[in-house]
Amino acid sequence: MVYHTVKERKSETTPVVGTATRASSTNAGVAALFAGDGELPPMPEGTRIAAVDAVPARGSYLFSVEDAFTNEREAILVPCEDEPGVEAWLNNCPHEDQRFDRGDGAAMRDGEIICPKHGSLFDACEGDCGNGPATGSSLRPVEIAVEDGDVFLVDDGYTYLKDGGLDDDEGPSSTSHLSF
Ligand code: FES
Repeated sequence: MVYHTVKERKSETTPVVGTATRASSTNAGVAALFAGDGELPPMPEGTRIAAVDAVPARGSYLFSVEDAFTNEREAILVPCEDEPGVEAWLNNCPHEDQRFDRGDGAAMRDGEIICPKHGSLFDACEGDCGNGPATGSSLRPVEIAVEDGDVFLVDDGYTYLKDGGLDDDEGPSSTSHLSF
């Protein structure tokens, strides 16, 4: 079964960095599965990022992408209690552009990503923030799909660059994917 995480961008004026919310990935996945006379949906056409199992239970999996304006960005996979069990966001707090994952995994607690600069908490599944100086803002979404235990980048706005952060040349064995 292919699960797609579907997120609606709230702002059309800033399509790359605009705030966004996430619709039900479960509903999208079920709808996709039963579309077209019960035929299975096609395989994801995106680039494989990692296995779902590589995403720490409390932490993040760091990877790098390029946006539509050729800006290189970092993104993170984080655990989410909703299907398919993982979500993807740009690795930057919308308050002051602080990186969540600085090479050793984003801090998380009770399903929320903790900004290391001012402590705002972001829902790992929805991306929304309801506390601290980032109240009312949302994480910038990255569209992914999950197929047979692997996570694929399927966002038209981003091209996969590499595993790890932009300044991380150590490859998959980097400490970027340690959980804590
Ligand atoms: S930089 Fe994240 S809450 Fe201020």
